[in-house]
Amino acid sequence: MNPQPARLLVRASILHFLADPGEHDDPRAWQYFEDGALFVEDGHVSFCGDFAALEAAVPVARRDAARLCDYRGKLLLPGFVDSHVHYPQLRVLGSWGRQLLDWLTDYTFPAERALADENVARETASFFLDRLLAHGTTTASVYATVHPQSVEAFFVEADKRKLRMLCGKVLMDRNCPEFLRDTPATALSDSAALIARWHGRGRLGYTVTPRFAPTSSPEQLEVAGELFRSRPDMHLQSHLSENTREIAWVRELFPAQRDYLEVYESFGLVGRGAIYGHGIHLSASERERLAGSQTAIAFCPTSNLFLGSGWCAHADLGRAGVPLGLATDVGGGTSLSMLRTMGAAYEVGQAGGQTLSPWRAWYLATLGGAHALALDHAIGNFLPGREADFVVLDSTRIPELDFRLRYASTLAERLFALMMLGDERCVAATHVLGERVWESVAA
Ligand code: GUN
Ligand code: ZN
Repeated sequence: MNPQPARLLVRASILHFLADPGEHDDPRAWQYFEDGALFVEDGHVSFCGDFAALEAAVPVARRDAARLCDYRGKLLLPGFVDSHVHYPQLRVLGSWGRQLLDWLTDYTFPAERALADENVARETASFFLDRLLAHGTTTASVYATVHPQSVEAFFVEADKRKLRMLCGKVLMDRNCPEFLRDTPATALSDSAALIARWHGRGRLGYTVTPRFAPTSSPEQLEVAGELFRSRPDMHLQSHLSENTREIAWVRELFPAQRDYLEVYESFGLVGRGAIYGHGIHLSASERERLAGSQTAIAFCPTSNLFLGSGWCAHADLGRAGVPLGLATDVGGGTSLSMLRTMGAAYEVGQAGGQTLSPWRAWYLATLGGAHALALDHAIGNFLPGREADFVVLDSTRIPELDFRLRYASTLAERLFALMMLGDERCVAATHVLGERVWESVAA
């Protein structure tokens, strides 16, 4: 006989998305249950709806066997998805500097060198994952370093925590310090060994990770394409069109290609499962081609601001049909908080004349990110069968936010105030596969 499945009944206000609300805030795109119930069996959702509807939906024998988690008065959502983040760069978070290319040379490359030591990598990965959970983020697309041991360390730590995570070894064989350089041959052999060991193990997935076009030779980009095509469910991540000096450099390095995106297209590095950080200075043609191949962009607003790269035209991308995720891009970004990132996304939009509604912001931080990473079959909302990763938010943890919310009359107003004024202090609890893995103690 099978042992009894572990059952959990959670009571809270619940918000999740079924689709992209788009530019016009289509109300069919989300569900909100003021007095909601989430019923979890063996780590997966079996019911999400009004608490009053639970009785009819779940037989009493199953309900009675469940542990109860009472989060009434708090807001429960699918765990946040950070669609682009560099775990080794926590070491240089908030480093003063100029723009992207100097920042990479002065801070990022020296910081990434330290992860050649597997013990440093383990310690950094462990700290990073614990902090992600404290910020309510349960899935991320993560850059390691060029060292395969930095990926190994990350996956060991993510597996211990039973997380759904993507990670990959950075590929770079030119225009970088010798101590971070690989070759097309080691890019292939190291990545293939990591894929064989980790892709599809637990909830982990491998993402082929050429850093960006300037640091990979054409031969290495060829290898990246080969790895991306090696399995139908393979992921790929890189950077695209972040900074004007970077774009001019790509033009010099790849004179035969008409624009930055065509460099990646010509090596087969586009398609469902591929996501590029930034996409700030794209042409209309590049946006259309990204949409056509369903290649995603990770919108990294705190990084746009911190590195002075420009303002991602997220509404233009959305209108063109480009899948979009939201991302911290730590350490180019300044915080692991997806709440702060939503607030910055609104402000970047304002600066660039691109409106962001609260509905679309909350979508991007949850189901949008899952979709952009081609993980929406497993996470991102509470449809039956989805993995029960969720975050519980408590607005009373920030007095100004709590005060402001007394004067909010609609849910949209409340959600907007929460994303503009809220931060990691609001994360009351984080659950992974139903189990509570983080709980903050109220002040
Ligand atoms: N472009 C190439 N590498 C990086 C990186 O590490 N961070 C950011 N923001 N952009 C990059
Ligand atoms: Zn990045």
